[in-house]
Amino acid sequence: MELRRKKPRCVVEKIDEGYYHLNANIHRGVHYLSQKATEAHEAARSTVADFLGAGKREEVIFTRGTTEAINLVATSFGEAFCKAGDEIIVSIMEHHSNIVPWQMLCERKGLKLRVIPMNDRGELDMKAFKTMLNDKTRIVSVAHVSNVLGTVNPVAEIIRIAHEKTYRFW
Ligand SMILES: Cc1ncc(COP(=O)(O)O)c(C=O)c1O
Repeated sequence: MELRRKKPRCVVEKIDEGYYHLNANIHRGVHYLSQKATEAHEAARSTVADFLGAGKREEVIFTRGTTEAINLVATSFGEAFCKAGDEIIVSIMEHHSNIVPWQMLCERKGLKLRVIPMNDRGELDMKAFKTMLNDKTRIVSVAHVSNVLGTVNPVAEIIRIAHEKTYRFW
Protein backbone atom coordinates (compact mmCIF):
# COMPACT_ATOMS: atom_id res chain seq x y z
CA MET A 1 0.00 0.00 0.00
CA GLU A 2 1.26 3.43 -0.86
CA LEU A 3 1.65 5.46 2.32
CA ARG A 4 1.86 9.04 1.12
CA ARG A 5 -0.04 12.00 2.43
CA LYS A 6 -1.25 13.79 -0.66
CA LYS A 7 -2.53 17.31 -1.02
CA PRO A 8 -5.89 17.40 -2.79
CA ARG A 9 -5.39 18.17 -6.50
CA CYS A 10 -7.56 21.31 -6.31
CA VAL A 11 -5.21 22.70 -3.60
CA VAL A 12 -2.10 22.03 -5.69
CA GLU A 13 -3.76 23.58 -8.75
CA LYS A 14 -4.71 26.73 -6.82
CA ILE A 15 -1.17 27.11 -5.47
CA ASP A 16 0.14 26.64 -9.00
CA GLU A 17 -2.30 29.24 -10.34
CA GLY A 18 -1.32 31.65 -7.56
CA TYR A 19 2.40 31.41 -8.30
CA TYR A 20 2.05 31.50 -12.09
CA HIS A 21 -0.74 34.03 -12.53
CA LEU A 22 -1.32 36.03 -9.33
CA ASN A 23 2.08 36.34 -7.73
CA ALA A 24 1.99 39.83 -6.21
CA ASN A 25 1.72 41.49 -2.78
CA ILE A 26 -1.85 41.71 -1.49
CA HIS A 27 -3.43 44.79 0.16
CA ARG A 28 -0.56 47.15 -0.61
CA GLY A 29 0.03 47.28 -4.34
CA VAL A 30 -1.81 49.58 -6.74
CA HIS A 31 -0.84 47.69 -9.90
CA TYR A 32 -3.12 45.28 -11.79
CA LEU A 33 -1.64 41.99 -10.55
CA SER A 34 -1.72 43.12 -6.94
CA GLN A 35 -5.40 44.03 -7.28
CA LYS A 36 -6.16 40.61 -8.77
CA ALA A 37 -4.19 38.84 -6.01
CA THR A 38 -6.04 40.84 -3.34
CA GLU A 39 -9.42 39.98 -4.88
CA ALA A 40 -8.55 36.26 -4.93
CA HIS A 41 -7.29 36.39 -1.34
CA GLU A 42 -10.45 38.11 -0.11
CA ALA A 43 -12.67 35.74 -2.10
CA ALA A 44 -10.99 32.86 -0.27
CA ARG A 45 -11.81 34.56 3.05
CA SER A 46 -15.50 34.65 2.07
CA THR A 47 -15.43 30.98 1.00
CA VAL A 48 -13.89 29.96 4.34
CA ALA A 49 -16.36 32.14 6.28
CA ASP A 50 -19.29 30.41 4.53
CA PHE A 51 -17.77 26.99 5.14
CA LEU A 52 -17.31 27.70 8.86
CA GLY A 53 -20.62 29.50 9.28
CA ALA A 54 -18.87 32.67 10.49
CA GLY A 55 -21.09 35.63 11.33
CA LYS A 56 -18.92 38.01 9.30
CA ARG A 57 -16.11 37.37 6.82
CA GLU A 58 -13.83 39.63 8.94
CA GLU A 59 -13.94 36.94 11.64
CA VAL A 60 -11.70 34.77 9.45
CA ILE A 61 -7.99 35.42 10.06
CA PHE A 62 -5.45 33.53 7.99
CA THR A 63 -2.31 32.35 9.79
CA ARG A 64 0.68 30.26 8.74
CA GLY A 65 -0.50 27.22 10.68
CA THR A 66 -2.04 25.78 13.82
CA THR A 67 0.72 26.87 16.22
CA GLU A 68 0.48 30.51 15.15
CA ALA A 69 -3.34 30.40 15.19
CA ILE A 70 -3.59 29.02 18.74
CA ASN A 71 -0.96 31.44 20.03
CA LEU A 72 -2.98 34.26 18.49
CA VAL A 73 -6.16 33.18 20.30
CA ALA A 74 -4.29 32.64 23.57
CA THR A 75 -2.69 36.09 23.46
CA SER A 76 -5.71 38.03 22.17
CA PHE A 77 -8.87 36.45 23.64
CA GLY A 78 -6.82 35.11 26.55
CA GLU A 79 -5.40 38.50 27.50
CA ALA A 80 -8.68 40.36 26.99
CA PHE A 81 -11.19 38.01 28.60
CA CYS A 82 -9.39 35.71 31.09
CA LYS A 83 -8.62 36.59 34.69
CA ALA A 84 -7.03 34.80 37.66
CA GLY A 85 -9.04 31.74 38.70
CA ASP A 86 -10.57 31.17 35.24
CA GLU A 87 -10.14 27.79 33.57
CA ILE A 88 -9.00 26.50 30.17
CA ILE A 89 -9.81 22.93 29.09
CA VAL A 90 -7.63 20.86 26.74
CA SER A 91 -7.36 17.08 26.35
CA ILE A 92 -4.64 14.58 27.24
CA MET A 93 -4.05 13.81 23.53
CA GLU A 94 -3.16 17.32 22.34
CA HIS A 95 -0.26 18.30 20.12
CA HIS A 96 2.26 20.66 21.81
CA SER A 97 0.84 23.56 19.83
CA ASN A 98 -2.41 23.17 21.76
CA ILE A 99 -0.77 22.88 25.19
CA VAL A 100 2.14 25.32 25.44
CA PRO A 101 0.23 28.55 24.54
CA TRP A 102 -2.36 27.72 27.23
CA GLN A 103 0.31 26.82 29.82
CA MET A 104 1.98 30.18 29.16
CA LEU A 105 -1.34 32.03 29.43
CA CYS A 106 -2.13 30.20 32.69
CA GLU A 107 1.25 31.15 34.11
CA ARG A 108 0.93 34.79 33.03
CA LYS A 109 -2.59 35.30 34.37
CA GLY A 110 -3.03 32.74 37.17
CA LEU A 111 -5.52 30.52 35.31
CA LYS A 112 -6.06 26.80 35.81
CA LEU A 113 -5.40 24.35 32.95
CA ARG A 114 -7.74 21.35 33.08
CA VAL A 115 -7.04 18.21 31.03
CA ILE A 116 -9.71 15.78 29.77
CA PRO A 117 -8.45 12.21 30.37
CA MET A 118 -8.95 9.28 27.98
CA ASN A 119 -9.86 5.62 28.38
CA ASP A 120 -7.86 2.48 27.42
CA ARG A 121 -9.24 2.65 23.88
CA GLY A 122 -7.73 6.09 23.38
CA GLU A 123 -11.11 7.84 23.50
CA LEU A 124 -11.84 11.02 25.45
CA ASP A 125 -13.67 10.51 28.75
CA MET A 126 -16.79 12.54 27.97
CA LYS A 127 -18.23 11.99 31.45
CA ALA A 128 -15.15 13.59 33.00
CA PHE A 129 -15.31 16.40 30.44
CA LYS A 130 -18.89 17.27 31.45
CA THR A 131 -17.87 17.57 35.11
CA MET A 132 -15.04 19.97 34.24
CA LEU A 133 -17.24 22.63 32.70
CA ASN A 134 -18.39 25.43 34.95
CA ASP A 135 -18.83 29.20 34.96
CA LYS A 136 -15.06 29.68 35.21
CA THR A 137 -14.44 27.87 31.90
CA ARG A 138 -13.21 30.33 29.29
CA ILE A 139 -11.97 28.11 26.45
CA VAL A 140 -12.30 24.45 25.45
CA SER A 141 -9.57 23.62 22.93
CA VAL A 142 -9.55 20.05 21.60
CA ALA A 143 -8.13 18.51 18.40
CA HIS A 144 -10.60 16.95 15.97
CA VAL A 145 -8.15 14.15 15.11
CA SER A 146 -5.23 13.16 17.34
CA ASN A 147 -1.90 13.14 15.49
CA VAL A 148 -0.59 10.59 18.01
CA LEU A 149 -3.47 8.10 18.22
CA GLY A 150 -5.56 8.78 15.15
CA THR A 151 -8.61 9.07 17.40
CA VAL A 152 -11.40 11.11 15.82
CA ASN A 153 -12.89 13.13 18.67
CA PRO A 154 -16.63 13.93 18.78
CA VAL A 155 -16.04 17.65 18.38
CA ALA A 156 -19.63 18.52 17.43
CA GLU A 157 -20.79 17.01 20.73
CA ILE A 158 -17.94 18.68 22.63
CA ILE A 159 -18.93 22.07 21.20
CA ARG A 160 -22.63 21.50 21.95
CA ILE A 161 -21.95 20.52 25.57
CA ALA A 162 -19.48 23.38 26.08
CA HIS A 163 -21.98 25.93 24.75
CA GLU A 164 -24.76 24.49 26.91
CA LYS A 165 -22.76 24.55 30.11
CA THR A 166 -20.71 27.72 29.87
CA TYR A 167 -21.21 31.43 29.57
CA ARG A 168 -20.74 32.69 26.00
CA PHE A 169 -19.05 35.99 25.30
CA TRP A 170 -20.89 36.54 22.01
C1 LIG B 1 -2.73 17.58 15.63
C2 LIG B 1 -1.75 18.67 15.28
N1 LIG B 1 -1.94 19.89 15.80
C3 LIG B 1 -1.07 20.90 15.52
C4 LIG B 1 0.02 20.73 14.70
C5 LIG B 1 0.95 21.90 14.44
O1 LIG B 1 0.64 22.45 13.21
P1 LIG B 1 1.43 23.64 12.53
O2 LIG B 1 2.70 23.06 11.96
O3 LIG B 1 0.47 24.09 11.45
O4 LIG B 1 1.70 24.72 13.51
C6 LIG B 1 0.27 19.49 14.12
C7 LIG B 1 1.42 19.28 13.27
O5 LIG B 1 1.67 18.23 12.73
C8 LIG B 1 -0.65 18.42 14.42
O6 LIG B 1 -0.46 17.19 13.93
